[in-house]
Amino acid sequence: MKPLLEVDGVRAGYGAINVLWDVSLTVAAGETTVIVGPNGAGKTTLLRALMGLVPVQGGDVRLDGASIRNRRTWDSVADGLVMIPEGRMIFPDMSVEDNLMMGAFPRKCRKGWKANLEMVFDLFPRLKERRGQLAGTLSGGEAQMLAMGRGLMEQPRICLIDEPSLGLAPVVVDEIFRILARLKAEGLTIVLVEQNTNRALKIADQVYLMQSGRVALSERGERVDLDRLHALYFAHEAAE
Ligand SMILES: Nc1ncnc2c1ncn2[C@@H]1O[C@H](COP(=O)(O)OP(=O)(O)O)[C@@H](O)[C@H]1O
Ligand SMILES: [Mg+2]
Repeated sequence: MKPLLEVDGVRAGYGAINVLWDVSLTVAAGETTVIVGPNGAGKTTLLRALMGLVPVQGGDVRLDGASIRNRRTWDSVADGLVMIPEGRMIFPDMSVEDNLMMGAFPRKCRKGWKANLEMVFDLFPRLKERRGQLAGTLSGGEAQMLAMGRGLMEQPRICLIDEPSLGLAPVVVDEIFRILARLKAEGLTIVLVEQNTNRALKIADQVYLMQSGRVALSERGERVDLDRLHALYFAHEAAE
């Protein structure tokens, strides 16, 4: 089957600083693709480059076989490519519900917003209880749920999710992963960046290890040897 998203030899960075070197990966429709790797490996930069938020200087990015390289973020979102960013990035002075409505802003999402909002509240009952509360007063876990809910309001076909469990208590991490498993079961295509390799591998169909802006390992989820992955991961960190 043709991949939904293809990253083909991408080189990207910030001005004169290059971060990604010849990064290639494919994301099959309906699968969960997990990207792991140490801090500074370029995982967030890769997601930003896919969204058109960081300029791609070499290689190509294709969605449904058509190049979206350096396309306006807005157009990709309208095509169903949605990012749930690292650090949540919610609007603290707006209510929970208004934050969710920001996700319904793209034109194509406006029509179905009511049903979408119900779907999000069904997935995150805690957000429903707190719908009128200012987002800045939420706990870390609730803020992550809000960021995910806002992304889902955009009616994604592919969701790029950057370190959703970062800084959260173990019980909240459990909840986040339960929700990810449910979204996967419902058929959403997920690209998940995670440092929590143990948890992420449980829902991974395909795994990539990134190091120093390159793909160091690519393997089907069920074939990943966690000891080997960790050895590779830490061998590199120790070498730096
Ligand atoms: N806005 C920026 N300007 C310049 N360099 C950046 C910027 N953001 C990230 N970097 C650098 O890019 C590299 C990769 O960062 P990042 O993609 O955030 O890694 P990861 O998400 O894997 O931790 C790091 O060396 C980081 O310092
Ligand atoms: Mg990051």
